[in-house]
Amino acid sequence: MIRLGRFHYPDPVVVLAPMAGVSDRPFRSLCQRYGADFSVAEMVSAKPDLMHTALSKTRLQFDEDPNYPKIVQLVGGEPALMAEAAQVMQARGADVIDINMGCPAKKVGKQSAGSALLADLKQVEAILCATVNAVTIPVSVKTRLGFNDDTYTLAEMTRIAQDCGIALLSVHGRTRAQRFRGQACYEPIAEVKANTQLPVIVNGDISSAEQANRLIDDYGFDGVMIGRAAQGNPWLFAECQARINTRSLPTITPHQDIAEHIHALHALYGRQGVFIARAHLHHYYRQYPDYQREHRPRINQACNEAEQTALIQLFAKAA
Ligand SMILES: Cc1cc2nc3c(=O)[nH]c(=O)nc-3n(C[C@H](O)[C@H](O)[C@H](O)COP(=O)(O)O)c2cc1C
Repeated sequence: MIRLGRFHYPDPVVVLAPMAGVSDRPFRSLCQRYGADFSVAEMVSAKPDLMHTALSKTRLQFDEDPNYPKIVQLVGGEPALMAEAAQVMQARGADVIDINMGCPAKKVGKQSAGSALLADLKQVEAILCATVNAVTIPVSVKTRLGFNDDTYTLAEMTRIAQDCGIALLSVHGRTRAQRFRGQACYEPIAEVKANTQLPVIVNGDISSAEQANRLIDDYGFDGVMIGRAAQGNPWLFAECQARINTRSLPTITPHQDIAEHIHALHALYGRQGVFIARAHLHHYYRQYPDYQREHRPRINQACNEAEQTALIQLFAKAA
């Protein structure tokens, strides 16, 4: 059972992972339409000079649908700045603040933020407590197993999170040192889940409804978080909800959904939209048997919204 302010989830949740450059407003809306219980927006820096850039403003655009919480993810290494940024986000209408303690990117690590913090649990504690105390909305944390492969700090991190009043923990089953290498490991997350009052969502390499259901059945997680496997397949959320929570499968309209997604990207990003839409189109069509010969070159050649939309129609006719 997960409670995030006025949002209650009695059943295991299936959620979209935060992905910078991917989990923007159009993609979050699409995933939510197909059953994602909620989604975490792309990270924004807590540093005041970075929080108000054009990029951050785009990342902080939310659907007005009141059925889904607006979850803002903050990244930063200074407790006072994190607290201040959380207050700004609450005033702007955020329903939940998520703290990024999992990102291994060098740019983030240089600021002693993201997963770099896992080497300094005292600082983790200071950040979590300062943020929770600064706002009245719930604060969640997204993290990894630990900093190095030989020292999993997740159990200690969970104790700190619980003591600081964190509402929800999401864990990617890799260490910072692993980045995206190897396989996600779920047992250490299950061990923590068995010993905490905190709701725990498992993340990492989840790519099918069967796998998601098995993780919940075997380990009792409060939910699954899906990132890369949702790119090009937002319908995966419907399959997961059917398998895990016995919801009926909705009618899926792939080509129409893709066209609407592409249109929404152009509306949000303007001139940049063509590049972002192109990346999504590659994800949508790369499972097709003729992708390399047929879809890939055509997607690369389409230079504006009209050409991309015409391609989707062409691919739909050929399917
Ligand atoms: C392109 C990309 C961008 C990401 N951006 C973020 C981010 O902004 N914040 C965050 O906490 N994690 C970020 N992640 C990590 C994902 O949320 C997730 O933890 C990771 O991809 C493992 O889950 P998956 O195997 O389901 O993709 C990103 C991952 C990818 C691939």
